[in-house]
Amino acid sequence: MTDWTWLRLCDSHELAERGRAIRFAIDSPQGAGSAFVLRWRGRAHAYINRCQHIPMEMDWSPGQFLDEAGIEIVCATHGAAYAPDTGRCVGGPCRGRSLVALRVEEREGTVWWLPDANAWPAG
Ligand code: FES
Repeated sequence: MTDWTWLRLCDSHELAERGRAIRFAIDSPQGAGSAFVLRWRGRAHAYINRCQHIPMEMDWSPGQFLDEAGIEIVCATHGAAYAPDTGRCVGGPCRGRSLVALRVEEREGTVWWLPDANAWPAG
């Protein structure tokens, strides 16, 4: 059993409201991959970057996950749509599944991630 500790992801000001997400490398029971953190309605939210339709990365370009209106996370491959605050599928071929959420917190101008059994630092 590993005791995880909080890891720094970025400065808070690097996450613009509905802006580009920050990607980071992870390992997981499904293998190595990436995750991302973005700001939506003022809060930081983080998910494993793996679509629930087909296990592929979802960004349109690196760090670009939201639709043009900034309302949903939309997978670039077939358009599965997820709620940015819960990761729940809200449309498209993800069929009621949810993105795997990661625990993040903001403290004193820094965004922190607490790894767990779903995702831990790569390497
Ligand atoms: S792989 Fe994401 S919608 Fe198909």
